[in-house]
Amino acid sequence: MSKSLVQQQFGAHASAYATSAVHAKGASLGRLVDLVRPEGHWQVLDIATGAGHTAAAFAPHVAHVIASDITEEMLDETRRLAAAKGFANLETAVADAETLPFDDARFDLVSCRIAAHHFPDVPRFVAEVGRVLKPGGTFALVDNISPDALSTPGFSEADLADAAASYNAFEKLRDKSHGRCLGLAEWCAVITAAGLTVLRREILPKAMALAPWATRMDADAATTERLRAMLEEGTPALKAFLRPRLDAGALWFTLDEAIVIARK
Ligand SMILES: C[S@@+](CC[C@H](N)C(=O)[O-])C[C@H]1O[C@@H](n2cnc3c(N)ncnc32)[C@H](O)[C@@H]1O
Repeated sequence: MSKSLVQQQFGAHASAYATSAVHAKGASLGRLVDLVRPEGHWQVLDIATGAGHTAAAFAPHVAHVIASDITEEMLDETRRLAAAKGFANLETAVADAETLPFDDARFDLVSCRIAAHHFPDVPRFVAEVGRVLKPGGTFALVDNISPDALSTPGFSEADLADAAASYNAFEKLRDKSHGRCLGLAEWCAVITAAGLTVLRREILPKAMALAPWATRMDADAATTERLRAMLEEGTPALKAFLRPRLDAGALWFTLDEAIVIARK
């Protein structure tokens, strides 16, 4: 995944992420804070902060938050949010998730929410998280996941691999900067391989209406139609994962978000 494509896509749609209900108010935000139980003396890094919603959720509970992202326009939105909320302990930094410009063992908490599916090299990102965390520090990850035996039981490995590839193609059709959503088991394996201990994993389903989801990334009518066809004509495993349904004439589906909490 090209990082300049990410900056182009998110730079053009930064304000949509500032107001997006999924990002600003999604269930994973409150759940993340509940699970992490932040402490008043903590130094926090939020990676790929987007419009800053996760950084802003932690800011009232900790000493200091660095909200980092690769896209300047997103950090403009974060600064606007921090000013509106009156946070004096939130600063922004331009940072690539795979080469973090921070010292070793600097942070008590590193968070990253709904972004890692854009990163080309997820093991390198998690290794960087491990490097900048203090011993005993917490890694809090939220990301959309692809189907595997944990999220979508009852299908063969081959059917799930096929459904995972189709799901990622569905995401990529809507957003060219989409890289790959990992399955939950794969996430736990990558985090464990980086030397962190997984303490908790959860799946939170989130209902999405197809049309606004597609237009948030400027999908045109033809693309939205192709997305609709992919949903309606998917394999049984894909449909079991995405749960397409009609509600008051609108096509809806469900994305699964995983929360993983790990300790260094
Ligand atoms: C959906 S937004 C993040 C949402 C935000 N974390 C929240 O909780 O609302 C995805 C963000 O990932 C950022 N991003 C993508 N690739 C990145 C990378 N390699 N390093 C840092 N940020 C990246 C994009 O610029 C974008 O702002």
